[in-house]
Formats: sequence, structure tokens, C-alpha cells
Amino acid sequence: MMRNLLIISNWKLNGSKYLIKNFVSNISLIVKNYNFSIVIAPPLLYLDYMQYIIQLYNCDNYISLSAQNIDTNNYGSFTGEISAKMLKDIGIKYAIIGHADRKVFHNENSSTILKKFAILKSEGITPILCIGETKTEYQANQTIVICIKQIDNIINNFGILAFKNTIIAYEPIWAINKKTVINPIYIQDVHKAIRNYLMKYNDEISKNINIQYGGSVSNENILNLLKQPDIDGVLVGRASLNISNFIKMLNVVNNFYSC
Ligand code: PGA
Repeated sequence: MMRNLLIISNWKLNGSKYLIKNFVSNISLIVKNYNFSIVIAPPLLYLDYMQYIIQLYNCDNYISLSAQNIDTNNYGSFTGEISAKMLKDIGIKYAIIGHADRKVFHNENSSTILKKFAILKSEGITPILCIGETKTEYQANQTIVICIKQIDNIINNFGILAFKNTIIAYEPIWAINKKTVINPIYIQDVHKAIRNYLMKYNDEISKNINIQYGGSVSNENILNLLKQPDIDGVLVGRASLNISNFIKMLNVVNNFYSC
């Protein structure tokens, strides 16, 4: 099995040069002992700077960077946008697409997600593909149906092999940016259903793909989530912005896996 425990931190519209320096200098003291990988997604503006700071602290083997978003085009008259080609140019390895914030606040829909997925693949950048249902869909017991529909969006257009070097993040929209109480057993069931669905197409991809969980991840629930066999890591938003809190979280995970 190729799955690696992965902690992804999404800063959303937060951060500063000060935070980046503080964050990296603190994490650099401990990250080399960790037996898992860390991916940070700061605002696009800071990717290059953060990369420089990570190198300065000799952490580039331990911390990777992700974009929070990209444009559907690689170049041209698209004022204000950033392309996958530019990310590749500065050495960024991951990009989040389909995040609930983009769906809710920027009308990102299935056809936009397809274009972004395709352009990332063409540049060799690993998509972190967010999928998940709304609260209404959740209440109507539609979670699995919706997740599969969003996965089918990719399979029907690019085939199952497109999921090689792709990360899936199950992020129920109702659990993001809120203080939601998460039931790890329920989340495990969803992850298992996603994995089983992929298995119908390709056993190897199903076994090897990282399926992350995101939405209200905290110090309190992270271990119970990660103990589940089909939860391969988390995508943490707010709880990763406070450095001492995030380091506590990383240490809890590290202590558990070192035992
Ligand atoms: P949250 O965000 O941890 O703050 O709920 C998660 C996310 O947006 O991916």
C-alpha cells in the first residue's frame, strides 16, 4: 500500500510574511522527526516567499506547498488569475480544486473543476480534489450519491487512471468553517464507500489513493479520525492557523504513530 499519512493545512485568506517565518522556524525544529508529510496551502501571493523560507530552514524535504486555487487557463487575458504553468514554474507540487469555499463563494462548478483538473494534470501538479455534500444533501442521506457523482465527473471525462497521483479530500460542506462535531465512524464509512467505488474500476488506484478528511478538524478529533483505516490524512483549516495549536496537533499525531 502506497498511502502516506498526510496533514494538509489550508490557510485560506489568512497569513502574512511574519506568520510564514514564525510558522516555518517553529516547525523546522520538529518536522524532521515526523513520520508523515506536511503540505501547506498559504494564499497564492505567498507561495514563492514561503518556499524560500522553507528552503532557508532546510525543510524542503519535509514540507511541501499547495496552491489554494488556479485558473482554468494557462495564460492569456485573464486579469487577476494564476495558472498551473506558473505554479510549476516556481516548483509547487499540489493545488486544491473544488474547495467548498470556491463552490459557495465563487460558483465553482463541475465543469470548472474538470478544466482545473485537466490543466493540473497536464502540468504534472497533483490535484487535491475536494468532494462533498451540502447540509441538505446530508440530511437527505445523499452523501455517497453526491460524492460518487463528483468522482464520476472525473472518471467519465478522463478515465480512472486520472486518479493516479491525485488526492481526494472528502469535505462535507456542512462541516467546513463551523464548529461541527464530527463522528469519525461516519466519516470512515464515507471514505470506505469512496474507496470501494474506485475499486470497481481499478484495484491498485483504490488501494493507493490518499483520501483525506476536511471540515472542523481539531486537536480533539484528529486522532480519532486518523485511527480509521480509510482516512489517510486530514485537511485542516482554522485549527492550523495558530502555530502553537498546529504544532500540538502535529505532535499528537507523531506520538501516536511512533508508538
Ligand atoms: P476548517 O476548514 O478546518 O476550518 O473547517 C477546512 C477546509 O476548509 O478545508
